[in-house]
Amino acid sequence: DCIKIFAPATVANVACGFDVIGLAIDAPGDEIILRKTDTPGIVIKAIHGADLPLDPLLNVCGVAAQHFLKKLDQPDAGVEMEIFKNIAPGSGIGSSAASSAGAAVGLNELFGRPFDNKQLIRFAMEGERLASGAAHADNVAPAIMGGFTLVRSYQPLDITALHTPAALWVTVIHPQIEVKTSDARAILKQKVLMTDAIKQWGNVAALVAGLYQEDYGLISRSLEDVIVEPVRAILIPAFHELKIKCKEAGALGGGISGSGPSVFMLSRGEIIARQVRDVMNEVYAPLGVDYNIYVSPIS
Ligand code: HSE
Repeated sequence: DCIKIFAPATVANVACGFDVIGLAIDAPGDEIILRKTDTPGIVIKAIHGADLPLDPLLNVCGVAAQHFLKKLDQPDAGVEMEIFKNIAPGSGIGSSAASSAGAAVGLNELFGRPFDNKQLIRFAMEGERLASGAAHADNVAPAIMGGFTLVRSYQPLDITALHTPAALWVTVIHPQIEVKTSDARAILKQKVLMTDAIKQWGNVAALVAGLYQEDYGLISRSLEDVIVEPVRAILIPAFHELKIKCKEAGALGGGISGSGPSVFMLSRGEIIARQVRDVMNEVYAPLGVDYNIYVSPIS
């Protein structure tokens, strides 16, 4: 009646796919210990590694759990959670999504798997609604399903797994400045130009084709965001320099991870992904901003 869940960090948007494409990395990830209890309802016993509310109404794990238990419809069901936050809140690598997804998946295991992935994504999306004001699924879907995922539609929810070339690696730099997803969404324009839209959907479609064909040139050319990145780039120190130098070092391309401030780069193979890490270090070391870098396969 007790389970420990690992919930991975994720990169949402993947340049051109704002709110629709995401990918899961191996590490870092949050861990959640869940226990069934005799007292109905949800108790968050402790949170380690971040200063987050224990009140289940104000905590993404609590909110995902509430929706789970409501749908489960077992009035006596009770659960206690202990959360180990290894992904910093506001980092842009799906911190809230990992916790929401971990809670949903963990409960599903505890209660004998009553729900499928799609339903678990719905529960976790409620955590995202609390964290960012929008129930986006491009972090929770890969956190639950693994690999690359695509949200074709939100109404009705239609999510599919995409092929993930085994040689694709991710390098992520997390500058330790906090960017709230709600703020990074509030600055976006609500209308897009037709010329930009044409470029963007060309890129999204080509990225998906590139993943299936394992065509790294096509993936590289598709990693371009003409709609969201130009607005959000100002939130991230040395963003343009970072992108240019990482590509010079052999990265296929990249962009802002989720709503930032993390920046991700995709590379073909671990060796290039590590060279990209070195270049990120060179760019960031002189800035006087604390940061972490993660190098990981996609899984
Ligand atoms: N797609 C969302 C955004 C992801 O870019 O606002 C947030 O992590």
